Amino acid sequence: MLSIAVEEFLFWKKKQLSKGGDQQSFAVLLECIGGISTTDLNLTIINPERNLYLKKNLEFLESIWDEHLQKSCPIQYLCGISFWRDLKLKVTKKVLIPRPETELIIDIVFNIFPKKSEKLFFAELGTGSGAISIALALAYPLSYGLATDIDQDALEIATKNYINSSKQSNLKFYCGNWWSPLESFKGKIDLAISNPPYIPRDTYEKLPKEVKNFEPKIALLGGEDGLKHIREIIQTAPLFLKEKGWLILENHFDQGEKVKQLLSKNKFTSIEIAKDLSGIGRFTIGRYK
Ligand SMILES: C[S@@+](CC[C@H](N)C(=O)[O-])C[C@H]1O[C@@H](n2cnc3c(N)ncnc32)[C@H](O)[C@@H]1O
Repeated sequence: MLSIAVEEFLFWKKKQLSKGGDQQSFAVLLECIGGISTTDLNLTIINPERNLYLKKNLEFLESIWDEHLQKSCPIQYLCGISFWRDLKLKVTKKVLIPRPETELIIDIVFNIFPKKSEKLFFAELGTGSGAISIALALAYPLSYGLATDIDQDALEIATKNYINSSKQSNLKFYCGNWWSPLESFKGKIDLAISNPPYIPRDTYEKLPKEVKNFEPKIALLGGEDGLKHIREIIQTAPLFLKEKGWLILENHFDQGEKVKQLLSKNKFTSIEIAKDLSGIGRFTIGRYK
């Protein structure tokens, strides 16, 4: 650990932020590479000793910050870590950085299944870093989860994240196209969740470079109208869900009504659109019959 005077550190921090970037990304850098969380930092600042301890020196931290600013590379990829709900997840360019708005999926599940002792049988399609499945497996220790992804590299990261976050063994990972690796679980699933790629092609082409140049295309692009994967997931869901089983989908800001219609066409009931914290109809929920 390297000891540094708080004054010196604060001066350096101000200088870094004056070059660009946002406080949140800077906090990720300090926590993941510097080894100092925002809470530790705040406590140290009011501590009369006024010295703080870093895992790496300021030059090293600055070199990562400069790379983030110059190349527009997300800080999470440079640090190899993303914080999501109360999880600390390993991320590489093989997986999407789990988004804050997606955190609400877990709260939607908590509303539907308030008892944490529930023996839920759940499936997550397109798990990426594993964020959603790991959070559910931890929150419902008696549950059993199946997490799929088409990308084997993503599944390796998700598996590592699960091992690092939990001593449990109630989550298994499967490689393949949407429902196809789950053939043997037909008609058994209480809850299926997916945050599939849903960006329409023309929007994808115009994405900011920090997303388009770094995050996996396979995790973002949802075909011409963005609904290609959502359609496929909904159409096949009735084969896998139990009678009265739930399906929760994340969608693009303007897709809620269309997803609602798709669910209704496929005999789902109790269909609702749930808003994210910006008031956008971000999730569509339905129950199979
Ligand atoms: C938007 S990302 C979501 C990742 C993670 N669940 C999250 O919320 O952060 C979509 C994920 O779906 C996966 N995917 C894309 N096409 C797929 C397919 N045909 N079958 C299964 N998974 C697929 C991608 O590899 C990616 O990990």
